[in-house]
Amino acid sequence: MTDAPLSFYDEIGGHDAFVRLVDSFYRGVAQDDVLRPMYPEEDLGPAKERLTGFLEQYWGGPTTYSEQRGHPRLRMRHAPFHVNPDARDRWLAHMRAAVDELQLSPLHEATLWDYLQRAAHAMVNTFEPTGIGPASGGREAGSGPSLPHTALPPSP
Ligand code: HEM
Repeated sequence: MTDAPLSFYDEIGGHDAFVRLVDSFYRGVAQDDVLRPMYPEEDLGPAKERLTGFLEQYWGGPTTYSEQRGHPRLRMRHAPFHVNPDARDRWLAHMRAAVDELQLSPLHEATLWDYLQRAAHAMVNTFEPTGIGPASGGREAGSGPSLPHTALPPSP
């Protein structure tokens, strides 16, 4: 036994709880016509691991995420993707269903959900409908650096 206070990570069930949350969330993403095409890889497994690792670390669990990925810088990492209010609301709807499945205590549930909502709102990087603007091609945008507009040849 230890006298150290339990982290939120431990309180809600540690690794198993976060794996269940993210698995359930990605089952929703896999069925989503707007979100699914944004994910650069065919296999959602690695994306699942990154989100699980990040959330575990955020809530006081192991720091594997930063050991492997460095500082989260989530706004920057989402810049290549077209995160408009529609994408945010879809993301949150799948998260809501996943949080419900965990059947947490009311306080834990409210704490987690409050964070997820605030984080999702902070991730919005465009108000353009899908398909308009430079960030519309999620697959291509995620696969490598894009050229700055100044690199375009001058028009004749
Ligand atoms: C608001 C709507 C959101 C959309 C549409 C979205 C979409 C995406 C996409 C397409 C990726 C790339 C998949 C990958 O290769 O990992 C990604 C990565 C990621 N997202 Fe989101 N995301 C959203 C919100 C959030 C929020 C709220 C969080 C945190 C609470 C989050 C955490 C992450 C993390 C940790 C990664 C992996 C970053 C890395 O290490 O490369 N996302 N997201």
